Amino acid sequence: MNLERFPRYPLTFGPSPITPLKRLSEHLGGEVELYAKREDCNSGLAFGGNKTRKLEYLIPEALEQGCDTLVSIGGIQSNQTRQVAAVAAHLGMQCVLVQENWVNYADAVYDRVGNIEMSRIMGADVRLDDAGFDIGIRPSWEQAMEDVRQRGGKPFPIPAGCSEHPYGGLGFVGFAEEVRQQEKELGFTFDYIVVCSVTGSTQAGMVVGFAADGRAQRVIGIDASAKPEQTREQILRIARNTAELVELEGGITDDDVILDTRYGGPEYGLPNEGTLEAIRLCARLEGVLTDPVYEGKSMHGMIDRVRNGEFPAGSKVLYAHLGGVPALNAYSFLFRNG
Ligand SMILES: Cc1ncc(COP(=O)(O)O)c(C=O)c1O
Repeated sequence: MNLERFPRYPLTFGPSPITPLKRLSEHLGGEVELYAKREDCNSGLAFGGNKTRKLEYLIPEALEQGCDTLVSIGGIQSNQTRQVAAVAAHLGMQCVLVQENWVNYADAVYDRVGNIEMSRIMGADVRLDDAGFDIGIRPSWEQAMEDVRQRGGKPFPIPAGCSEHPYGGLGFVGFAEEVRQQEKELGFTFDYIVVCSVTGSTQAGMVVGFAADGRAQRVIGIDASAKPEQTREQILRIARNTAELVELEGGITDDDVILDTRYGGPEYGLPNEGTLEAIRLCARLEGVLTDPVYEGKSMHGMIDRVRNGEFPAGSKVLYAHLGGVPALNAYSFLFRNG
């Protein structure tokens, strides 16, 4: 595997820490050891998250092309757009963000607080758009790019979740390399890696990265899109493309993409009772926060799988905490009683 030939612009602190989830593991019976890799605090740029790691491999291209404006898209409470706004500010670039109406949720200040508030503070040109949830490419951000060109700027398009960008999977190939290094220091290896999936390039990168030591099928994706067929297809396509880029021996097969579809409902952006219970349980036992859109769903999936005995006794499970906590502010009504 050859990741080194791709330039990387450092935006993170370095390897994100791995910490044991001791009290949660004990609470769930103590037969499975849970750990978290903290991508949610991987950078000092507006709290970081999984997109910051992905952007490390996209930014060299933006700089090489002489672009002066990062253009991206997501839902109103998108974590991606907040991270793009932070990176643009950090690099002295402009930023245009199309924020669509992906979630059927209307806390009074949904479009004022959390991620979108931070993007505005960081100086991004934030444009609200009425279109609904879709992880594909949209005319609205093509329009945003055209607007940048019209004013004489040079836009660099960053698709939803970085996922349609050819290099979108590389960051999480690097994540697997980083885990292998940390495993040497820890003196053991992880049996399973749990990851939340929506636009797909996080899991796709991990599948490729862990395929290098035969663990592709130990990456357990938890769907949070509630449109799992589209997400699964996208993971597989990006994994195959990424495998080719890094010249992974043996490539990726259909069976290498594991996507658990039990926890994504009722729809993208809306938690179910299990999501909320998982958020509270992990928060109260560990002081580790997760959000109702993404990580609460993967936390639910991991907890439920432990409770169901779906991980063999003695397993060491690594939960990839991908960020997303700023969105909690937009769901204050759900947590008004804790
Ligand atoms: C906090 C968080 N977790 C998980 C994901 C899912 O990652 P991906 O879109 O690469 O599947 C995202 C972004 O979509 C996210 O912001």
